[in-house]
Amino acid sequence: MTKILNVLTTLEERRDFNLNDGNNQIIDGSKLVVFPGLIDPHVHFRVPGMEYKEDWITGSRAAFNGGYTTVFDMPNTKPATTTYERLQEKTILINKQIVQSELPLNYRLFFGADKNNFQEIVRVKDQIAGIKIFMGASTGDLLMDDESSMHAVYAIAKAFNLPIALHAEDEQIIRSNTEKYKNETDFKYHSIIRSEAAAVTAVQLVIKLAKIYNVKSYILHLSTKAEIDLIRAAKNENIPVYAETCAHYLFLDNSMYNKLSGLAKMNPPLRSHEDQNYLWEAINDGTIDIIASDHAPHTLSEKEQHLCKCPSGIPGIETTVPLMLTAYKQGRVSLERLESLLYTNAKDLFNLPSSHNLVFANIEDYYLLTNDRLYTKVKWSPFSGMNLTGYPEYIFANNKLFLFKK
Ligand code: DOR
Ligand code: ZN
Repeated sequence: MTKILNVLTTLEERRDFNLNDGNNQIIDGSKLVVFPGLIDPHVHFRVPGMEYKEDWITGSRAAFNGGYTTVFDMPNTKPATTTYERLQEKTILINKQIVQSELPLNYRLFFGADKNNFQEIVRVKDQIAGIKIFMGASTGDLLMDDESSMHAVYAIAKAFNLPIALHAEDEQIIRSNTEKYKNETDFKYHSIIRSEAAAVTAVQLVIKLAKIYNVKSYILHLSTKAEIDLIRAAKNENIPVYAETCAHYLFLDNSMYNKLSGLAKMNPPLRSHEDQNYLWEAINDGTIDIIASDHAPHTLSEKEQHLCKCPSGIPGIETTVPLMLTAYKQGRVSLERLESLLYTNAKDLFNLPSSHNLVFANIEDYYLLTNDRLYTKVKWSPFSGMNLTGYPEYIFANNKLFLFKK
């Protein structure tokens, strides 16, 4: 193994090799590209409380099938991860389930901030990846919709050198739009209610706080041109903001509700084709640092409900890498850029050690994405029916080779 790590130093070299699978069977590397074990810094694996949507047995398998050997889980579980005790309980459950999955998945946990748990953040500060703030309500009951609580959390983050991950949508704007459009039934109103203005207002506040406190602020799931412009300007001023987007904003847009209905409902919502083009530019000019899955599974029957009952979120951990590698084959992004977006930038932001894991994806053969290829418990994807390449086939983790051949 050491040999592979030492020898394959550049992406070009990495494509040109044979790998012994441990049983002295030689794997043909000619169709494969290799990356370090990828990092998905934004998943919702639903433990505790919503295990019928996902748990860490199915979640670990979905992660490996998607090319990830490290995930960061969000705190909007039931109950939310907002106390020291809940963090310990959650950790015990996760560790047991990872053992059952028989896959060596690495993980970190975000800790939820609410308006009353500031002391709890201090108690868990050495155990967590960072603090998660929901500035607008989404799945679960976490919410921080007042500026004074935001200041308090930023002060704690500053004192203990913790990054903050932010769901940046303004709750007041969402609420007033929800009231205004409460009788609408077309899913396209989801994008109108959770408007660009809601996103921009929240991102402006984050940039202001990141500047005042000099705290690393990881702004999740950016979806609009206007937010990107704000972030580019903030980065030019050396304000420590880090930008994430997700594959769904790069491959779906708000014209697709007709076809997908609730399967296209997520927070923040899908935006225009122009926004989408701008996100691709921001990926290639380095304004966007990270592509995460925001893997947020809900069952198909939950997603088939009407607009106001349909929960927001889609599974994505198994489709992000094939989608991005299909885009690479179309000349939309380079392999070097993808390695930064799917691994290096998250590693650096969260101070992870370099990974000794490797993921080998087939970038020559194209397969139809079907629900039965997926390991997620909910077994659906808005991308099913697409012809994609770039599926991970082999994962080398903890000195073992795992086969996920399609
Ligand atoms: O669409 C979303 N789903 N956005 C979120 O912020 C939460 C997530 C979930 O947990 O379902
Ligand atoms: Zn999320």
